[in-house]
Amino acid sequence: MYLRNTWYVAALSSEIDRQLKSLRVLGENIVLYRTGDGNPVALEDACPHRKLPLSKGFLKGDFVECGYHGLTFDCSGQCVDAPTQDRIPPTAVVRSYPVADKWGLVWVWMGSPALADEAKILDIENFDNPEWKITTGDALTCECHYLYLTDNLLDPSHVAWVHRASFAAAGTDNVPLETREIKDGLIVYRWIYNCEPPPFYAPLVKFKGNCDRLQHYEVRYPSVAINKSIFSPAGMGGPGKPLTDVSYVMVSYNFLTPVDENTTRYHWLQHRNTDPDDEEVTRNIADGSRLAFQEDRDILEAVHKGIANETRRHINLGLDAGSLKFRRMLDKMIAGEQANIREAQARAL
Ligand code: FES
Ligand SMILES: [Fe+2]
Repeated sequence: MYLRNTWYVAALSSEIDRQLKSLRVLGENIVLYRTGDGNPVALEDACPHRKLPLSKGFLKGDFVECGYHGLTFDCSGQCVDAPTQDRIPPTAVVRSYPVADKWGLVWVWMGSPALADEAKILDIENFDNPEWKITTGDALTCECHYLYLTDNLLDPSHVAWVHRASFAAAGTDNVPLETREIKDGLIVYRWIYNCEPPPFYAPLVKFKGNCDRLQHYEVRYPSVAINKSIFSPAGMGGPGKPLTDVSYVMVSYNFLTPVDENTTRYHWLQHRNTDPDDEEVTRNIADGSRLAFQEDRDILEAVHKGIANETRRHINLGLDAGSLKFRRMLDKMIAGEQANIREAQARAL
């Protein structure tokens, strides 16, 4: 069961064009394309006649023609042509999903279309600030349940073992974690004081010597993770302390889209407060991030298999407190949404 009344990232904006692209989100097959005006469209990827995926058909102007017998659908999913007969069957309809194009990503709303509101898409702070630079997004397919990824993105300690060559450094294994609930998610974080910057960040920070480091792991329901790394000169960092002129900030936005119960599409963007025009820095961050996320993927795919095959129940550690709370809250939200859906169905009968 998934949270439905929310935006999920379907694809990078650059992946959606005038071709029919088939995708799977929350176990549903969707065909995506752009109209001649460039607006993205998402339709159920199954012709109502013999359920041939519409993505196997043809784009005709802004409409999709089925590749078997030509039923043709407009952007709202309504059949507008049935070339083999005079009458268009009134039941010749496919579902149309609200879509939005924002932050270089195409988003799809999987719940009630009436509730879709672009303003609910995550805000990216400093997006228009010329001193900040965002890397072009990238994506990976992970053969694991999406909640193993949200667990991982509420777990600052894993970097000590999973990202030994990049994000690991003193304190990432054992400095106590704090957890803070926010309106639409949860934050697990820790400040590590007077430590050396880790290998990935050492060439990026703009000051010499030790640092105070924040690991801020935030996940918004159901599956948008904001991972903030702050490095200030030692003695200058800590809760409530302002950034200094040389503080380094990297915000990693991670968007986890359940393909189904066993697969997740993982999209991300990195946003930093330095070197906005340095292409090499941008490239290194993009490459390093991809490498790190491949390290996560390898672990989480094996965890998914390990837990699916467990013969004795797995245990929890103190570090799991945040992710367990997140899962409990999300379960409650999903149950509430399902109850509302059932009520609305009952009223409609
Ligand atoms: S399967 Fe689509 S028109 Fe027959
Ligand atoms: Fe990781």
